[in-house]
Amino acid sequence: MGRKALIIAVDGHSSCGKSTFAKAIARELGYTYLDSGAMYRAVTLWALEHGLIGEEGLDRERLVAALPGIRISFEKDPATGGNLTLLNGRNVEEEIRGMEVSRWVSEVSRIPEVREHLVRLQRQLAGHGGIVMDGRDIGTVVFPDADIKIFMTARPEVRARRRYLELLEKGERVTFEEVLRNVEERDRIDSSRAVSPLRQAPDAVVLDNSEMSIEEELEWFRKLLHEKGYGEKGDEDRH
Ligand code: DC
Repeated sequence: MGRKALIIAVDGHSSCGKSTFAKAIARELGYTYLDSGAMYRAVTLWALEHGLIGEEGLDRERLVAALPGIRISFEKDPATGGNLTLLNGRNVEEEIRGMEVSRWVSEVSRIPEVREHLVRLQRQLAGHGGIVMDGRDIGTVVFPDADIKIFMTARPEVRARRRYLELLEKGERVTFEEVLRNVEERDRIDSSRAVSPLRQAPDAVVLDNSEMSIEEELEWFRKLLHEKGYGEKGDEDRH
């Protein structure tokens, strides 16, 4: 008796705890977790490091031409068990989370060729399922047939506070207002861009975690799995 390995898509606004939630459900199901935002961030870091982002903004043409040489992969962090993002084989997990990358990543991710390149890679990495992927267009574009689609959100102030505390912990010198502006600006760009805008798939279930702990989110998820007819460990009963 085979077990169908589910594809679980987690989309939603920036800084609403998608990765914390997606990682937790992947751990619970014994699935692989994939952070598609890390890929857009890695391409952005590459552009910054290669002088394609300057006073005049982003040099789209040179970035598109360089795409075939930008290799992104993931590796398990032996220390934490979490994922490390590799850019051309180099661990960039820390660097891609900084403010400079955050400032430019929406610009980079609105380029259709960048999206095509990364969507192809995301589909390859998902293999035959048993995967939780988080992002903006996972349930709408990357895996429109995903078994479970979750659309996460939380109030902007709540999201900015979480991001702000994260950045402070990493030693970044930012103000709460700056972070709030960045969160709101990214919402605006992500939702209004022409290619794959952030939107809720019609068959996605909304999770607003403004007032929820991760334990409560997990409880919510277990109920959802149950309601959808999947057992605790995915879809073991259906084959
Ligand atoms: O999830 P995150 O904040 O790390 O994502 C960084 C940026 O990448 C975000 O501003 C939007 C973009 N992104 C995207 O356009 N599509 C995805 N599937 C994931 C992220």
